[in-house]
Amino acid sequence: MLRLLVLICLCFTAIAAFFNSFALAGVITCSNIVPLRYRNDKISITDFGGVGDGRTLNTKAFQEAIYRIQHLRRRGGALLYIPPGVYLTESFNLTSHMTLYLARGAVIKATQDTLNWPLIAPLPSYGRGRELPGARYMSFIHGNGVRDVVITGENGTIDGQGDVWWNMWRQKTLRFTRPNLVEFVNSRNIIISNVIFQNSPFWNIHPVYCSNVVVRYATILAPRDSPNTDGIDPDSSSNVCIEDSYISTGDDLVAVKSGWDEYGIAYGRHSSGITIRRLTGSSPFAGIAVGSETSGGVENVIAEHINLYNMGIGIHIKTNVGRGGFIKNITVSDVYMENARKGIKLSGDVGDHPDDKFNPIALPVVKGIRIKNVWGVKVQQAGLIQGLRNSPFSEICLSDINLRGETGPRSPPWKCSDVSGAARQVSPWPCSELATSHQTGSCSSYF
Ligand SMILES: *[C@@H]1O[C@H](CO)[C@@H](O)[C@H](O)[C@H]1NC(C)=O
Ligand SMILES: *[C@@H]1O[C@H](CO)[C@@H](O)[C@H](O)[C@H]1NC(C)=O
Ligand SMILES: *[C@@H]1O[C@H](CO)[C@@H](O)[C@H](O)[C@H]1NC(C)=O
Repeated sequence: MLRLLVLICLCFTAIAAFFNSFALAGVITCSNIVPLRYRNDKISITDFGGVGDGRTLNTKAFQEAIYRIQHLRRRGGALLYIPPGVYLTESFNLTSHMTLYLARGAVIKATQDTLNWPLIAPLPSYGRGRELPGARYMSFIHGNGVRDVVITGENGTIDGQGDVWWNMWRQKTLRFTRPNLVEFVNSRNIIISNVIFQNSPFWNIHPVYCSNVVVRYATILAPRDSPNTDGIDPDSSSNVCIEDSYISTGDDLVAVKSGWDEYGIAYGRHSSGITIRRLTGSSPFAGIAVGSETSGGVENVIAEHINLYNMGIGIHIKTNVGRGGFIKNITVSDVYMENARKGIKLSGDVGDHPDDKFNPIALPVVKGIRIKNVWGVKVQQAGLIQGLRNSPFSEICLSDINLRGETGPRSPPWKCSDVSGAARQVSPWPCSELATSHQTGSCSSYF
């Protein structure tokens, strides 16, 4: 009898596993974007004098460990293990073919010594620091011209201790642009997974001029009132895949960018092939954003299965006069938002320039924006679309959108200008420019 039961149990387990593998196969993931490497060589930060007492400065230990990986004679790179403990350090550079592995309970913590923080050159597509002219502070963890880099582990923490920086911003005593928490410049084949990022001084994760970047199972946290703590900003980069992550910060959760005004136009490096899926979060600004720095152009973006709570704006496509560039072929679908100031906003003139040398007739082109399957409750204003008179937004296609107001079943109506496209099953009805176009025209292939 017992044997039979065991047999039946085993059989059921096998069947369940069989169906499970099907279910798993059905879920689309980022896993084919970057080949996963197994590292035979493993070293620990403690081998290089690292002390996880929260007080000892471990800059030298990180530099020496990474120097060792950089000068390995064998192929395949190495894994740098960070055991449980709090490792205080100054900013440091990563190298190619390395895995930074944070054990459960491991914290890599940024020093708050802002006076000795290294400066680096501004990005060519920005022409200056994003906040202030001139140089900018190097990101806490930095990779320039690297490839095959993994930051992962058992959900250890990278802590930027950003409050000193936020206070300098509030008191207007910053001398240069604040550091990002993690930045990759001119790099490829990067994976960031199973890590908690918290209290970034500025943007959290900034891949710029990169290709093939995966961010998954990441948690990104910063106080709601922390200034400019964007979650993930793919910038002039291609094949970036972000999935299964939770972001709650003081600024946009994900913002796709490509440089700023005359500098971004001259550098001319666009962002394309950006996927964002299964993201949950909360922010006083935008959930899914494109812009506003889009001077190199942004195209081929898909964002889907997004859950947003207590938001400023659910979906925000933003650019500016003088930006030039383009925003094309953007699809945002399957979004749930609860408690938002605005549901959907497309704006052509958000302001903000690096200097007064921008070309006022460099107008952005915004074309082919599809937003579908959006359900919102407690949305104060459903939608706002402000195109540019001399460069109207076109092929703006909205379908199956239901945004409910705070009290009644409907939010106040949409407001639009300088836009064309079509809408289908959108409640409240969007502005006449979209709602009255019964022949769906350029949207027909999409509807
Ligand atoms: C880290 O990288 C930056 C940018 O490439 C460089 O300017 C800096 O000298 C590097 N720092 C160290 C300690 O190697
Ligand atoms: C780490 O966190 C992710 C969620 O972001 C979770 O799916 C995963 O199971 C956690 N991993 C470990 C080892 O706890
Ligand atoms: C639009 O973007 C998607 C996602 O990247 C891509 O698959 C598709 O081919 C693009 N369409 C055009 C017409 O470029």
